[in-house]
Amino acid sequence: MNHFDYRNGVLHAEDVPLTLIAEQVGTPVYVYSQATLERHFQVLNEALAGTDHLICFAMKANPSLGVVATLAAMGAGADVVSEGEARIAMAAGIPAERIVFSGVGKTEEELVFALESGIGQLNLESYEELLELSHLAQRMGKTARIALRVNPDIDAGTHAKITTGLKENKFGIDWTQAHTVYKQAMRLDGIEVVGVAVHIGSQLTDLQPFQDAFLRLRDLTLMLQADGIPIQRIDLGGGLGVPYEPGVNETPPLPSEYAKVVKSCVGDLGCKLVFEPGRLLVGNAGILLTKIVRLKEGAVKSFVVVDAGMNDLMRPALYDAYHDIVPVKEPKPGAAKRAVDVVGPICESSDVFAAGRLLPMLYKGELLAFGTAGAYGASMASEYNGRPLIPEVMVKGDRFAVTRARPTYDAMIAAQKLPDWMG
Ligand code: LLP
Repeated sequence: MNHFDYRNGVLHAEDVPLTLIAEQVGTPVYVYSQATLERHFQVLNEALAGTDHLICFAMKANPSLGVVATLAAMGAGADVVSEGEARIAMAAGIPAERIVFSGVGKTEEELVFALESGIGQLNLESYEELLELSHLAQRMGKTARIALRVNPDIDAGTHAKITTGLKENKFGIDWTQAHTVYKQAMRLDGIEVVGVAVHIGSQLTDLQPFQDAFLRLRDLTLMLQADGIPIQRIDLGGGLGVPYEPGVNETPPLPSEYAKVVKSCVGDLGCKLVFEPGRLLVGNAGILLTKIVRLKEGAVKSFVVVDAGMNDLMRPALYDAYHDIVPVKEPKPGAAKRAVDVVGPICESSDVFAAGRLLPMLYKGELLAFGTAGAYGASMASEYNGRPLIPEVMVKGDRFAVTRARPTYDAMIAAQKLPDWMG
């Protein structure tokens, strides 16, 4: 459910017509709905009612300050994978103790930062990282609260590029070795073992892989507890999918169904449950608003060339991802449609948002909205092809605010500097 609807023939974000945002901020632009964000958080939180839990928003999905501050105000923590994300989380009002620091390549500087700032949980991905952290913590006179991220060797059944829980993936510690590493962790100074963690992939549309992974974690937790290792937290990662293509086989389970699986697998272990959802919270809370630059009739195809490019929204180019595309001006019911390729201006053949998509007759200058662009849209954008990062707008009711301004070309160039020998 989201708050992007047609009213009086114009697509709105909550009570704001997208035409108004395009006029005042220009295109392309990301537009987020605060009410949708709040609703998504609430639905998940309510589904988990009755458990001792902490929802740590996976910042990589959308580290926009307004987005993070909205979730922070509702009690969310953060799952971060870099010092930068941790700093953004804290700037948005998330206390350090509600932050989980994940990632396979935390640098020494980042581990020091985590220890200094009192991050609540460090998810470690290797024995090597554990040893390094123990040395650093002892040197600093600190204690690191750690969980080991276990690799359960379970196929999440999602796109190969976003699967993380198979033993050939770089992530986590093989679940068969986890017990040994925990025993080593218990002997290390500067380390306090608090939990176990798992994350098997993203955009999962089936509950079975979650259940398989959670049951592995259950067995491990019971084994560790029996061995006197004080597991108090079970971090179940993120990964629950969202509907990108309404009505098509990718219909993900509801948060309530996911919560049932969680409760049945690990609800009785007396542990705090930690979650790291990203896409579920922000995916459908954002759209990418773009304008048609021109219509081009190719030799065998009709192209709709828009002002957004793969640098602004990489998902279709990178994962063949589907995003719904709708005109901001509501098409007449039963309006004729034709198959077009919606493409960006980037000089790569992969800069295609949709191929052979059935859309109503469109015209130059018309506005289009790409749906479900709130997750991994702005956060993965780049300046490729000399295109400044596009702005982000937050909507609340009938108000909207630019939370990231479009940089001028001068500002983009000023971020660089010539070497002194080039005068
Ligand atoms: N926790 C960990 C350790 C993760 O690696 C991820 C995502 C999450 C949580 C959040 O997963 P989510 O709930 O959002 O599925 N760029 C890709 C997705 C990459 C996901 C990476 N890790 C995309 O656009 O589909």
